[in-house]
Amino acid sequence: MISRFSIISRLIILLPILYSSCDQPQSDANALEEDMGLSQDATLDLMIHDQELDLTDMMISTSIDASMLIDMAVNLSPVATCDVALGGEPWDNMVVESPLGIEAELMSISLDQLPQEIDISSLPSLFAGLIAYMLDIPIESLGGSLQKEVILSKGMLGRVVAASFALGLNTPSGVDYLFLRRGLHRYYHCDKDFPLTLDGFKNNIFDYSTANFTEHDSIAKCGPRRILSHPELGVYVAETLVDGMVRETEILLEGRRNDGNLDFIIYNSLGQLSDRTRFPTVRAGSEVMASSPYVCTSCHLNSDQEMNTTRFDLLFPEVGPCR
Ligand code: HEC
Repeated sequence: MISRFSIISRLIILLPILYSSCDQPQSDANALEEDMGLSQDATLDLMIHDQELDLTDMMISTSIDASMLIDMAVNLSPVATCDVALGGEPWDNMVVESPLGIEAELMSISLDQLPQEIDISSLPSLFAGLIAYMLDIPIESLGGSLQKEVILSKGMLGRVVAASFALGLNTPSGVDYLFLRRGLHRYYHCDKDFPLTLDGFKNNIFDYSTANFTEHDSIAKCGPRRILSHPELGVYVAETLVDGMVRETEILLEGRRNDGNLDFIIYNSLGQLSDRTRFPTVRAGSEVMASSPYVCTSCHLNSDQEMNTTRFDLLFPEVGPCR
């Protein structure tokens, strides 16, 4: 499914190419060629391919006038990009995701030994659930094996899944689950084009400034939490209050993925997109910095024992450190 969001972000990138290539295809191709070090033929191929994609997108969005889309595209706020890690407050505890340098590690892992068809029939349900989540494939259609080329067609998260299988060859589970978690943490936010600031979220996705929140005694945060649920739009916002101030805003997005799962977003106290957040532990008064989205998936999950499946689509868990 192509979302309005991705149509718009593509338009931003493609419109200049679309317009200039109609006027002066030759000189533009040369400029691009210099910029990207591409041969002229390859550049033209790219442009033609992009124009086709762009026109298909426009046809799909027949209900939206193209000039309106251009207006909206110009005003979109910046989103996470994969060339920089998001980072955040320092980790005050050791978590799986805290070691730096995954980018270089990922590129150095050879995929040559990985078979074309990878047997996943004996993966534990949680591992299979997380892999399906990273590939955005519904858990029911995952089946007993995965094709290497399907995995590698899924961007940086796909690359991480492939590398985790390569590292896990000849181990009992068949996958390096810790590497998988580190890769999810590093590439999830940019893969999903999340806006870099809370203002950007309100601009690009949903402006909830005037919506009514209800206050909860949170069993997840062990304190007051303001919650806004908007099922029609598939947006759920939870603000953790500490001393009357919002310490973090955690957001669930529903209905935006192929696999039917939720997306998980955090903005910190300064309104910046973050890949970590604080949760209390069961020991009264103690807290840990936890990595996102992994920590979110650990509570917002539905495990089906009979089907042996795990999905991450539970909106309102009923367990937390304070219950
Ligand atoms: C320790 C378990 C736990 C973790 C981890 C967790 N949640 Fe939750 N979440 C809950 C519980 C329990 C609720 C129900 C409300 C409450 O008690 O706070 C909830 C509710 C929510 C809601 C409101 C949902 C609604 O229906 O309105 C949002 C939004 C949310 N969580 C986002 C997140 C995000 C984003 C993450 C990851 C950063 C996350 N949660 C991690 C347990 C958790």
